[in-house]
Amino acid sequence: MNLALKAYEISLSGDLMRDIEAFFKLHNDGETLQHTLKVAAEARKVAGLYDVDPAKAEQAGLLHDISNVIPVSSMLETAKQLSIDILEEELKYERILHQKLSRAMAEAIFNITDKDILSAIECHTTLKPDAALLDKVLFISDKISWELPGDHAYLLEIREQVYNRHLDKGVLIYLDSIWEQRSKLKLVHSWLVQAREQLITVQQTIKFIDEELQQTLKDYAPWFDLNSDVLRYTPRTGWSLEQILEHVTLTSHFLLILIRKGKSKAKELALKANLDQALLNYHYNLGELDEIAKHKSFEWIRPEHMEPRGEKTIAEIKDLLEAQINECRAILKEILGGEGVLYKTTMTVNNLGKIDVYQYIYFLCQHAKRHLVQMQGVKEEFDRLNGAK
Ligand SMILES: [Fe+2]
Ligand SMILES: [Fe+2]
Repeated sequence: MNLALKAYEISLSGDLMRDIEAFFKLHNDGETLQHTLKVAAEARKVAGLYDVDPAKAEQAGLLHDISNVIPVSSMLETAKQLSIDILEEELKYERILHQKLSRAMAEAIFNITDKDILSAIECHTTLKPDAALLDKVLFISDKISWELPGDHAYLLEIREQVYNRHLDKGVLIYLDSIWEQRSKLKLVHSWLVQAREQLITVQQTIKFIDEELQQTLKDYAPWFDLNSDVLRYTPRTGWSLEQILEHVTLTSHFLLILIRKGKSKAKELALKANLDQALLNYHYNLGELDEIAKHKSFEWIRPEHMEPRGEKTIAEIKDLLEAQINECRAILKEILGGEGVLYKTTMTVNNLGKIDVYQYIYFLCQHAKRHLVQMQGVKEEFDRLNGAK
């Protein structure tokens, strides 16, 4: 046995339940033992609903948190000594390593060789891409076995989905709840991000784009209400706010021509092609467009026809932007069934290659977001020069 784990060695009776109890008692960790027994029972129960071996699920549950006996301050060092593959983000938050450490301990101390069990232990906190059923069973059992005071609404929802044989839906509710809190969290593990993207359905993608469109409209509204001194102020480099606003509508105008055409083609294709088959292979694909929203994240060669000309009033630009966003939302409603994935057009910006109709609409939204960041910069420059608050 690796020296790093020598201190945790115990003699085995052959009965895992007994050995686990002895193990936690030896290390004075009654709290983890209580949690462990609950998770093991839950995993056994959930496994039965999904044609997963309940005995394996129970064993995985019993072993999943055994590394809790290692002090958090030693987790990184122990992982290094065990030559565990450590991801960059795990250096920022050592505690996350406990899932991989538990796997190593299950092998070394409890002689577990079953690959399915080891896999489930290794990803019980974050899940991972291409997760197996047992991985998901342990993952979700670890979450729903908690009885938090005034139970969180989403836990009740997860239990309901899981017990009604919608394991993926239950798992996704949890992953989404983490994703939504991401700005407040120390870490969102890349395994969790990838696992979540694999479970997202095209309907959820559509809903997400629609929310982003509404948000963009809200974020733009206050800019049109600024007084004309600010709106017409020419910054040291680049356009005035008014010019930026006009440019956004010009770009959206040209994107919309392609989006309308794409939508019609996609609907035609849906009549001939097998949409169900295409959706079976659907994989969330908006992530690659997130770069677009970051101002100056890449060199954008802008065609001349998207240069602002100053021919519209600010009120006209406002109405146009609103109409464009609303048209995007209306187009989404026409292809709610996932038809939009059937038709792809080349997008040369940032070497995106061929993108589907939903991605095109999201692109329009991301482009608008990109200029919000730019406008913020111009406004700050104006305020500085004019001694405003
Ligand atoms: Fe854990
Ligand atoms: Fe746990």
